Amino acid sequence: MRLVQYGDDTPARWMTESDKEALLRAGVRYMDITDYPEALVSSLDNWQPYIPEITRYSDEAAPYIGNLTVAPMKEFLQKFTSFNTRYYKSKTGAESCRWLLSQLKEVSAGASHVTVKEFKHKWDQFSIIARFEGSNEDLKDELVIVGAHQDSVNMWLPSFGRSPGADDDGSGSTSIFEAFRSLSQNGFKPERPVEFHWYSAEEAGLLGSQDVSRAYEKDGKRVVGMLQTDMTGYIGANGEVIGIVTDHVDEKLTDFLKATVDEYADIPYVLTECGYACSDHASWRKIGFPSAFQIETAFDDSNHYIHTTGDTIDKLSFDHMKEFSKVAVGFAVELSHSRSD
Ligand code: BES
Ligand code: ZN
Repeated sequence: MRLVQYGDDTPARWMTESDKEALLRAGVRYMDITDYPEALVSSLDNWQPYIPEITRYSDEAAPYIGNLTVAPMKEFLQKFTSFNTRYYKSKTGAESCRWLLSQLKEVSAGASHVTVKEFKHKWDQFSIIARFEGSNEDLKDELVIVGAHQDSVNMWLPSFGRSPGADDDGSGSTSIFEAFRSLSQNGFKPERPVEFHWYSAEEAGLLGSQDVSRAYEKDGKRVVGMLQTDMTGYIGANGEVIGIVTDHVDEKLTDFLKATVDEYADIPYVLTECGYACSDHASWRKIGFPSAFQIETAFDDSNHYIHTTGDTIDKLSFDHMKEFSKVAVGFAVELSHSRSD
């Protein structure tokens, strides 16, 4: 049996795995809190990070953004979608995370202050954490996080049904892969640590990101800002935009995300809503860390093929995915600096 929560103020309910699968098909958003049934007794002690209002480091970010290229993104997503499914409990889901780990190690091999590590869970598909060490010793327990989820799901046959997950969330995984590649290959040295996360088991109720965020809070780490990047490949009927989610997110960080899109992307943003526990940013927010969320379109305009065999690359644009890489780079560079004015 699993314990499932549907909203901040509604009591959680016990249900079977197959009831949970029915929720996914019905499009009901939830968090599976079986492993974390109690509300967290926070150790944050009113800790509040400084979140800037404007961008200041576009000169520093320019070479990293200039080096973003669609060729490695295409190669990455082609292979990532070739695993039969990236379902968190499947054999191919475990294979796909090992492949992702090897790719991240390969592209960052020349950067000595970058580490790429697995974060293990109770199931076989681990999450992955790629970290740039910060140069400022005083800020070593603070960090900036850019995230996406690596798992996919076929909602009709979760365990073994074909699930390319090209858009959900192969595209976001690709956008932040390319941001990470460019930063690590062009000498990015942040003041405060910056991490890129690829979560396991988002589709099963944010299981991977809950494990990671709880462990970080317990270890005394402090997150200045977390940017989730889930679905970045589909251009809707209303023109090319970046959707900025405004519900269940941190308002100040979301205002800063608007400024970041204005400065670093070449397309405008639209504001949209996604609902409770729509993606991994919710795990960080629940603990009290500021999180924000960028998506491919306004919510109503987004890709309708997700969670099916039809979620394939041919419906997506790599140039669109690259716009989200630019925002990820800008966000990482800007928030990696220490300032409190
Ligand atoms: N990527 C989706 C969320 C999403 C859908 C974002 C459409 C933007 C447009 C995410 O992977 C997802 O499927 N979430 C589930 C909830 C999850 C906790 C099972 C959902 O939205 O039903
Ligand atoms: Zn999904």
